[in-house]
Amino acid sequence: MSSSDPSDLPEPDGPGRRLGPPPTKPRTSVVRLDHHWFVACLSTELRRGRPLARVHHGAPIVLFRDAAGAPQALLDRCSHRNVPLSLGRVSGDRLACGYHGWEFDGAGRCQRVPGLCRPLDADRGRRVPAFAAREADGFVWVYTTADAEPVREPYAFPTVGPGYTAVRRSVTARGSLHATLENALDVPHTAYLHGGLFRTAEKRNEITAVLRRFRDRAEVEYVGEPRPSGLVGRLLAPGGGTVEHFDRFFLPGVAQVEYKIGDDAHFLVTSACTPLTDFETRLFALVQFKMRIPGFLLKPVLEPIANRIFAQDARVLREQADTIARFGGEQYESTEIDLLGPQIYRLLKQAERDGADVHGPGGDGDAPELEKTIRLQT
Ligand code: FES
Ligand SMILES: [Fe+2]
Repeated sequence: MSSSDPSDLPEPDGPGRRLGPPPTKPRTSVVRLDHHWFVACLSTELRRGRPLARVHHGAPIVLFRDAAGAPQALLDRCSHRNVPLSLGRVSGDRLACGYHGWEFDGAGRCQRVPGLCRPLDADRGRRVPAFAAREADGFVWVYTTADAEPVREPYAFPTVGPGYTAVRRSVTARGSLHATLENALDVPHTAYLHGGLFRTAEKRNEITAVLRRFRDRAEVEYVGEPRPSGLVGRLLAPGGGTVEHFDRFFLPGVAQVEYKIGDDAHFLVTSACTPLTDFETRLFALVQFKMRIPGFLLKPVLEPIANRIFAQDARVLREQADTIARFGGEQYESTEIDLLGPQIYRLLKQAERDGADVHGPGGDGDAPELEKTIRLQT
């Protein structure tokens, strides 16, 4: 997993800018993000007394709840004979391996070896790497660097107050973290890949987008966008009205889409994306919405449409990953309407290089590092 020089970034500065001669080392959007937090599972998936096997960045991990119910995360490999600890069982504050019963605490220390007649010598290693874990907002987060004190806290999901319906979902896409994040926040494909459902390729509107990049995030604000003309737009906001639309990316893996349509509807979809492997990403989404039409009436109509949209995205991400594998690498060209993809790429590469160096929201009143206004048809 090589990291690229920033000058290698496909950040467009004009229509159809070419990327220049082929880079000497293969360009890759794949990143290894040490000292960051990613969601490992929904809180409801981690049951007391039951170890849960998960993966992030290709590392198998096992999660379990200690006696107080707090999540703990260890590398999923017993230090005795390489058996997955996720096949074991939880005993009080410890996880017991399923083979010879070695018991590990949440810090990864072996505390008991069944059958051993003498006390365990505490100075001998006999431990497995442990990852910091946190639980908040119905999700369990795991730190990507083993045996390290976290240098930052996980992203806090926004709460939008009473009167909203909240739904938590998780789905897996076969695409890199970058490709999945870009897909979640990319507007131009919606009129095309999802033609008719949300926007339509025929009935386009020319609008203004304001792109802003900060040290730890990027956003696009769409100004003057009319209600989407497709089926979903008509269902959500039958009264029409103008749209407030933001697409936001937060390091290391959060994609957020916010729509306010007239006085009828407000949607906030926040997806925390976890790279399972280089080309497999799991999305943990918190969908919060308020509409004039009651949610229970819309659900039977909206759910199949949402599933259809996700199936179309999942298919295109899969084909994209397969093509990258077939050609042995990635290649990108962009125009200025590829608004967030290049910014996400830049921020991810920066985060990969920074590691434990913390660059949170910057000084200067958190002024954007970059602000651009772009005209585009949606
Ligand atoms: S392999 Fe885990 S206790 Fe022996
Ligand atoms: Fe899509």
